[in-house]
Amino acid sequence: MSKICSPTPENIARACQFLRQGQLVGVPTETVYGLAANALDPSAVARIYAAKQRPAHNPLIVHVADIESLKSVVAWPLAPSTQEYLAKVADLWPGPLTLVLPRGNAIPDMVTAGQDTVAVRIPSHRVMQQILNVSQLPLAAPSANRSMYVSPTTAQHVADGLSDAVAAIIDGGPSDVGLESTIVSLIQRPRLLRPGIITAEQLATRFGMSIDELTSANIDPSGGAAISSALPKTDGELVALQAPGMMRQHYSPRTPLVFVDQSLPRQARRVGRIAFAALPPEQQAAYAAVEVLSESGDAQQIARNLFAALRRLDDAQLDAIVIDSVSDHGIGRAIMDRLRRASAQNPKQT
Ligand code: TXA
Ligand code: MG
Repeated sequence: MSKICSPTPENIARACQFLRQGQLVGVPTETVYGLAANALDPSAVARIYAAKQRPAHNPLIVHVADIESLKSVVAWPLAPSTQEYLAKVADLWPGPLTLVLPRGNAIPDMVTAGQDTVAVRIPSHRVMQQILNVSQLPLAAPSANRSMYVSPTTAQHVADGLSDAVAAIIDGGPSDVGLESTIVSLIQRPRLLRPGIITAEQLATRFGMSIDELTSANIDPSGGAAISSALPKTDGELVALQAPGMMRQHYSPRTPLVFVDQSLPRQARRVGRIAFAALPPEQQAAYAAVEVLSESGDAQQIARNLFAALRRLDDAQLDAIVIDSVSDHGIGRAIMDRLRRASAQNPKQT
């Protein structure tokens, strides 16, 4: 029986009941679907790590309904300088922005991987807002995919990977943004930890600093290895990761993914193509399957449609997927960040 349910008041009430009982629920957000648990219940949060096969050192984002509820998950009141930085971006909430702030006492170690900071987000999706309001719980929710696979942008994607792990999946329609939230640390000075639809340019303007200043110190050429090996091993499994989610390979389809200007894996016969704008018929003919993400090449539309197209082609028994690239600014930066990680598994990179 499918666990996907429409977002009726009855189904939302039932999902909140599941969450209170410590079970997992697939939830829609404007960025991607989340795998939610009561953030205050360590055994519920442990189920998230088990279901995703997520390493215990990779912390989770806590979702709350509003600024008032934020106060119970971060160390409130914030230091005056942190409060000032928060004020410069608070109007982007509810929305696709995650902030890393000093952690509040109520948040278990399991959520933050033992760190003294917590990532928080106030999502705008109407259904997610209802779930947060009805449950009256802060919800820990990573993207609802198995660790290392492409994030889900529909309820069906969640069911495809995690059906056995969830009590229910609430269907809120396809995610509007299609890429995971922008993550900014407000610990000390603002730092961009993950690019997203809220762009580095937008943030730099608000914080009154250059993009370089905003992004320096988190460019990690080792893809995370240097950072994680430099960490003290704390008790048990908990190892604090300073820039988690920065592992170079991430979000990968099983099928090798190459950019149009790269060479195909040898012996690739059935090749799929993801185009960012309309593709002339004579070019389409060369591929076994073609996905056009936006007829006009619009970046928001490309972002919105990207993960579903990757998943469809990954299921199409192809030997390789060829994908366009975009320039690395604005939303393009977030798109390329995800695609470089998705293609990082390929043995031959040029
Ligand atoms: O759009 C999103 O952010 C989605 C939806 C469901 O909200 N969630 C999401 O979660 O993408 P996840 O777990 O797939 O990615 C969260 C990222 C990870 O890279 C994690 O390492 C990082 O946030 N993170 C979590 N807590 C952190 C912290 N205290 N400091 C630094 N990074 C943190
Ligand atoms: Mg994820």
